[in-house]
Amino acid sequence: MTTFSLVTLCIVALLIVVRYQKEIFNWSKTILRQKGLLKNDAADDPSNVKRLAPYPAQPIRGRKQYRVMMDVRRMDSQNWLTLDKHYIEEHRVRDHLLREKRSEVLRCLPESLEACQEALEDVSDFLCQRFPNMFEKSSENDQTFIRNCMTGEKFDLGRSAPSGIDTDALEAAVRLTMEDLSIIMLNEEGEYYLAASASLFPTGWTVQERIGWTISRMHEPVPLWHQQVASSVSKFLVRLTPASPMERSNYFVEIRRPDENLFEILYRPGSLCEKELDNPLPEEIIIRRERQTFRRLPPSHARLENLVTEMKSWPDHVSEYKGKHVWSKKVLEFYNKRVATAPCETKEKVEV
Ligand code: HEM
Repeated sequence: MTTFSLVTLCIVALLIVVRYQKEIFNWSKTILRQKGLLKNDAADDPSNVKRLAPYPAQPIRGRKQYRVMMDVRRMDSQNWLTLDKHYIEEHRVRDHLLREKRSEVLRCLPESLEACQEALEDVSDFLCQRFPNMFEKSSENDQTFIRNCMTGEKFDLGRSAPSGIDTDALEAAVRLTMEDLSIIMLNEEGEYYLAASASLFPTGWTVQERIGWTISRMHEPVPLWHQQVASSVSKFLVRLTPASPMERSNYFVEIRRPDENLFEILYRPGSLCEKELDNPLPEEIIIRRERQTFRRLPPSHARLENLVTEMKSWPDHVSEYKGKHVWSKKVLEFYNKRVATAPCETKEKVEV
């Protein structure tokens, strides 16, 4: 073999390695595991979810003066949705709630159905990409499914059939996550309101009672809400874009009766501190943390957005060829309206 052909062979081999590096890496991991030379890591094996530590809670800052605050920061996008060792036991509680208290914890107003479907797609894409061994997608007869490898559940990701139930998509999404999910939309008065919600672990409220409420009405019980934060929250929601998801966290103090099980600890639609338990032991006092993330859903107008971007780039003769003068004004009007009213998705995660 000449030096030239040897060098060419090496270059070809190198190109193949670079092109298929992911496949080669996964294949070598499988071989090494089969030979017992490599242990599974927690994110790789469905049964190892039990080894994943909970997402760290934000510290309590110890502020000397109380002020109701938005206190939002950029979302840690890699951890939009989280999994941890409590997944299976909390999933059991969530399943029980969805069966026994469905109308209290899950509601979707008719205008939110498209957004709920998009939320399910977003949640599925994220989980399959972030936890590829816990969730997987498959296609059968033109239908796409997501399978939860930890519980064996399987959900159809296609658009709900006309005979389907309105809450199907949001229910599937919230059965996959450890987090609660809500959709807020803009009403005709320009106010955001709760259009759909699967809030299984609420603190002092229920979806059944507050579905359709505006953000302003929702927060009426919060002391000093209207004086100190209401207008900033409205501006915050209007400015939220698909590219700038945000998060905040809060805490509540909860009294846990000695004989309470996980269901009773997590599902607290009433009071967090029962009056009859007014002299609790230190071990009965829990600090309950909630991490809330906020993002504007993009896909409903993504295709439209791409069309608007592309049509701006067309030279005159292309615009004429595509008949832009006939339809562009209407398309732009529709686009601007859609962008201004696109729904926001929020989710809450409870940590005890
Ligand atoms: C889907 C949207 C939202 C829902 C469903 C929601 C729901 C709630 C509920 C039920 C409460 C307790 C009210 C009560 O005591 O009855 C609350 C408290 C509160 N919410 Fe929201 N909220 C939402 C969005 C927001 C946003 C966007 C902000 C600010 C950026 C915010 C900040 C607060 C604050 C500061 C409190 C008081 C407790 C605390 O310190 O966190 N919420 N929220």
